[in-house]
Amino acid sequence: MGKVFSAHAVSVDGYITGREPGAGRGLGDGTMLFDWYFDGDTPSQVFDGFKLSAPSARVFDAFAGRVGAIVAGRNTYEDSDRFGGGSPHPAARLFVLSHRPAPELTERQTLVTTGIQDAIAAAREAAGGKDVGLMGGGVVTEALKAGLVDEVVLHQVPVLLGGGRPFFQALPEHVRLRLVEAVPAPGVTHLHYEVER
Ligand SMILES: NC(=O)c1ccc[n+]([C@@H]2O[C@H](COP(=O)([O-])OP(=O)(O)OC[C@H]3O[C@@H](n4cnc5c(N)ncnc54)[C@H](OP(=O)(O)O)[C@@H]3O)[C@@H](O)[C@H]2O)c1
Repeated sequence: MGKVFSAHAVSVDGYITGREPGAGRGLGDGTMLFDWYFDGDTPSQVFDGFKLSAPSARVFDAFAGRVGAIVAGRNTYEDSDRFGGGSPHPAARLFVLSHRPAPELTERQTLVTTGIQDAIAAAREAAGGKDVGLMGGGVVTEALKAGLVDEVVLHQVPVLLGGGRPFFQALPEHVRLRLVEAVPAPGVTHLHYEVER
């Protein structure tokens, strides 16, 4: 069975957006979190148009290549302009987790309103043995609470944003992590953790 992981670009003070993210505004005033996707000279083999530094391309493509399906929170879906009716990943089906109907979803997108377990189960099935990627701080936190996350990746960008949406929200108990790899790269440090069980 595939794994479940989240990989987010995050500031040193723990934000995955700047202030006032939203539809049409993307990451708000935190757009520099994504600069390293485009500041290099090594094209991604998975995402068209991404040009990363060589060390970032190795890390980024390794994770991107593992993904068979995505579970994104409703905020990520809305703030990303509903991914234009498609998916944030070129080869992975999108599952949107929400408490509310989303009549505008296309046939390439699936809404799940019955909780994180169901969303991850549906994504696992669609992933066909590949991994499930989680998008959004709320979704990652829900999945951690349910004990469903295998790995957490911080693409840590050297900035203190001072505000925005946090990667991790409140948890009822500690979650211990084991550092698998730390890769310094231009404009970002890639921190790959496994969740200890
Ligand atoms: N820096 C990065 O790499 C990166 C990556 C991904 C996303 N982002 C950004 O992060 C922001 C979103 O993060 P976020 O933490 O605010 O939100 P999120 O995790 O994307 O979405 C949270 C929403 O998902 C729904 N949800 C969560 N758990 C649920 C459950 N158990 N059952 C049903 N629905 C559930 C709820 O929606 P409703 O109650 O409204 O239905 C909740 O408000 C966006 O701006 C996005 O662009 C950044």
